[in-house]
Amino acid sequence: MRLTVSSIIEKKKNKEKITMLTAYDFSFSTMVDAAGIDIILVGDSMANVILGMDSTTEISLDEMINHSAAVVKGSERALVVGDMPYCSYQINPDDAVDSAHRFFHDAGCHAVKLEWFDDVLKATAQIVHHNIPVMGHIGFTPQTADKLVGSKVQGKDIETAHRLIEQARALEAAGCFGIVLECVPWQIAKIITEDIQIPTIGIGAGVHCDGQVLVLNDMLGLFKRFTPKFVKIYEDLFSAAVSGIQKYADEVRSGAFPSEKESFSMNEEEFNKLKEFL
Ligand code: KIV
Repeated sequence: MRLTVSSIIEKKKNKEKITMLTAYDFSFSTMVDAAGIDIILVGDSMANVILGMDSTTEISLDEMINHSAAVVKGSERALVVGDMPYCSYQINPDDAVDSAHRFFHDAGCHAVKLEWFDDVLKATAQIVHHNIPVMGHIGFTPQTADKLVGSKVQGKDIETAHRLIEQARALEAAGCFGIVLECVPWQIAKIITEDIQIPTIGIGAGVHCDGQVLVLNDMLGLFKRFTPKFVKIYEDLFSAAVSGIQKYADEVRSGAFPSEKESFSMNEEEFNKLKEFL
């Protein structure tokens, strides 16, 4: 049975850690779901790890919707959250509700995620008003990274730490059912986690968050361009895939593939009749 927003909030109450990973297509969605992950995020990190773009701001709403629909189809149990791309609410905040509707109704997502920006509280409240659950995202926010001061890790001094705590409180008040904390010192993530009633999901935010999220292609060793400090590689699928592909190429070159097992044949009688015409 599909997890719901209430069942995710319930996990925090029961002190049960929440697991979340990204996925961007049908096949990987079935794997993440089979592994029992609670939340699948169709992240705009797809821009980098699937489409090879330099920035998450380059991905379109249509691309996100198409992939989100595939992820929903590939999963049975996980709650699927669609990541609202930059163009769908930050350029014109009035687009936020329409874009959220596309994730919810066209793709079948169960919630959307919005990164922090100036009008995020208004946009969140409007989407929640339309009965679409919203997950917040504070700390390092790649869509507006140019507006952030200092290093990638946010909240390292009193002023910015205080700002993060206030942002978390404001998102909870605006109706979010959970908040991603990205690149936040663990001490600040702990304060926020203890301060609000909704779950915090950390990525580079330490162990005290209510749950954790990673980019699937990072933790499976599939994305080689860069690996952030907070990533742990659990399996090296890149090497496994290259090795499998090399074996295939060797067998094609030697004629070992395809064998009879992978070939179709015509029955002999029929084949002999055909030969008479040749
Ligand atoms: O797009 C994404 O993958 C994300 C996660 C890093 C939380 O937003």
